[in-house]
Amino acid sequence: MQNLQIAHATTISALRTRIRTWREDGLRIGFVPTMGALHDGHISLVRLAKAHCDRVVASIFVNPKQFAAGEDLDTYPRTMIEDAEKLTAAKCDLIYLPTNEIMYPQGYSASVSLQGPALGLESEARPHFFHGVATVVAKLFNQVGPDMAFFGEKDYQQLLVIKQMVKDLDFPIDIMGGGTMREKDGLAMSSRNAYLSAEQRATASRLNAILKDFATALEAGRPVAEARAEALSTAQAVFDGVDYVEARCAATLSALPDGKLETPARVLAAVRLGQTRLIDNMAAKTPS
Ligand code: PAF
Repeated sequence: MQNLQIAHATTISALRTRIRTWREDGLRIGFVPTMGALHDGHISLVRLAKAHCDRVVASIFVNPKQFAAGEDLDTYPRTMIEDAEKLTAAKCDLIYLPTNEIMYPQGYSASVSLQGPALGLESEARPHFFHGVATVVAKLFNQVGPDMAFFGEKDYQQLLVIKQMVKDLDFPIDIMGGGTMREKDGLAMSSRNAYLSAEQRATASRLNAILKDFATALEAGRPVAEARAEALSTAQAVFDGVDYVEARCAATLSALPDGKLETPARVLAAVRLGQTRLIDNMAAKTPS
């Protein structure tokens, strides 16, 4: 472990000792789970947590269970020193840095799996993904024991999956979503943007423009299927591959009936540029 200036815990017992003293002082604890390679999107969640809680814990753990064989587990950016500096500047109170052995010791066998909002979209291309996310987040919640936890709307389906898990499994934790942070040209911030070449980076921002046009068309009363077909065909022309371009019910991610939008929706897309997979989403209001 590098020599970090910020308070950090690398074991469950050290983490709990620190949190117990805060609890004894009656403090409210906020939690921001991350996989590191922090950008302004993560830091905005730490700030949101600071605004709602007395103490904020951020975890950094690249969770092997949410990567399938052949995905980017080994190359996922690991930038611990820079991450610690950013968390210090954001006045995060404690970083939790568990190891693989702590999270998944020999003989580990439990898994959390959900249906509902976990079905479809990301699960089509990455069927393992939400089992891995729900499992690690459930473990982190039990280890940290926060009052509130904060997740980015950039991963909108993940946010709904965590809300559903907390409800179904009775975790006494309030989940709050933080708005997507974007680069000047609209590209949603993501640790994986670091994989993009200069040429791919220029193309990547088109995803945001396609979703904006899609949402605008729905808000203007265009039938869902027609607006979706147009967004899909533009995305297919721009990107190397398209996993999905969809409009779904914002509350449940269930399919929408065709015709004019009658419930608040979310437009969501996942596309590929070379080896890099980009996801993004945004709200679409019902036509006035
Ligand atoms: O969104 C992420 O960075 C991860 O999926 C999470 C929630 C930290 C779980 O590993």
